[in-house]
Amino acid sequence: MKVLIVGGGGREHAIAEAVSRSASVDKLYCAPGNAGIEKLAECVPITPMEFDKIVAFAKEKEIDLTIVGMDDPLVGGLVDELEKAGLRAFGPRKNAAILEGSKAFSKDLMKKYGIPTAAYETFDSAAKALEYLETAKFPIVLKADGLALGKGVLICQNLEEAKDGVKEIMEDKKFGSAGNHLVIEEFMTGREVSVLSYCDGSHIKLMTSAQDHKRAGDGDTGLNTGGMGTFSPSPFYTAEIDSKCKETIFQKTVDAMKAEGREFKGIIYFGLMLTQDGPKVLEYNARFGDPEAQVILPRQKTDIIDVMNACIDGTLDKIELEFEDNAAVCVVLASDGYPVSYEKGKLIKGLDKFDEADGYYCFHAGTKKTDDGIVTNGGRVLGVTAKGKTLKEAREQAYKATEWIQFDNKYMRHDIGKAIDDAE
Ligand code: AMP
Ligand code: GLY
Repeated sequence: MKVLIVGGGGREHAIAEAVSRSASVDKLYCAPGNAGIEKLAECVPITPMEFDKIVAFAKEKEIDLTIVGMDDPLVGGLVDELEKAGLRAFGPRKNAAILEGSKAFSKDLMKKYGIPTAAYETFDSAAKALEYLETAKFPIVLKADGLALGKGVLICQNLEEAKDGVKEIMEDKKFGSAGNHLVIEEFMTGREVSVLSYCDGSHIKLMTSAQDHKRAGDGDTGLNTGGMGTFSPSPFYTAEIDSKCKETIFQKTVDAMKAEGREFKGIIYFGLMLTQDGPKVLEYNARFGDPEAQVILPRQKTDIIDVMNACIDGTLDKIELEFEDNAAVCVVLASDGYPVSYEKGKLIKGLDKFDEADGYYCFHAGTKKTDDGIVTNGGRVLGVTAKGKTLKEAREQAYKATEWIQFDNKYMRHDIGKAIDDAE
């Protein structure tokens, strides 16, 4: 069959790698792809929000399955457009992708169906938000309602910070129209774990757990980023927590979406906080995480196309979803200065040293092919990933592999997976 992947980051490279292992795929396209994906797929210069062009391309090439990897096109309704044209697509429709697209929607859903999450209030005017803050407990969390590249969350230590935050989000519109509504939420403490799942509207199958490192600097300092590295599985996600989440969160979310007439087919990413009162939902995403996909998919044994087809057909209960009994660590190599400002166009050396057969992967995020070779073309440049028998071994191998890569301005965190030591 012919498959098209929409997107061009490290996550889409990891999806492309998994798809290329599928027995049923003869031809793979990616729009727009990147310099790494190009080794696995024919890349076409169409960007993910050019819905008309994507639909036209999929029709012309008789694509059997289009996989939408990114939040913006999902929330914007690309899957609906493809389906209207009689094409098959993997990912939630617009009315279900709202689970990620609106924090106010997801919070209200959790409240209505009794899914554990932080207490909150929603505001549509800055004046009302400011009035509420006068008597609130600190720290407190402000969240822009809509998509904000994972950056629309502010943790405020005191009233002054919170007032500035309301101004940034609702008045200065730092995150654009995402700031038309504001969610103000109770601050929770605990360990964070991500659990991703495949859903077919009724059934849910969980993937192996993972943990991201969102801050730019070592020791969780500095600005929030898209993610500086991940490990999988999380030793903090114990069997006891897993059974609690199964009871209170996972199937309940799928059932809630169905009851709302918003059947969710695709990936639900549960961002969880393991609090003293039990696991609670921090956020939902409607897609693979980036860079969570880079440590989850290389460990997935079950053919990804079979799983995606089952999600679309509503037959996920017939699928046995299996992961390797090992571990993986991904260290993001970024351009120094990310997430604020950074230079691009630096020549990258050492890319040929990676051999997937040995458990080493170099997923491209912001890269570009030029006549001189592959150069940096973004903040997050590469996701250097290694598998190991244990998390410790995977971490050692991933950091060893980061040394194979050279480019000017190379920046990374040195403590990805350090939390693993606390678990022992
Ligand atoms: P989100 O985009 O909702 O995942 O938020 C980004 C990050 O902000 C999360 O990964 C948490 O580290 C933090 N965060 C979000 N909501 C809360 C909360 N209610 N309490 C504490 N930290 C939070
Ligand atoms: N790594 C976090 C996300 O993809 O949302």
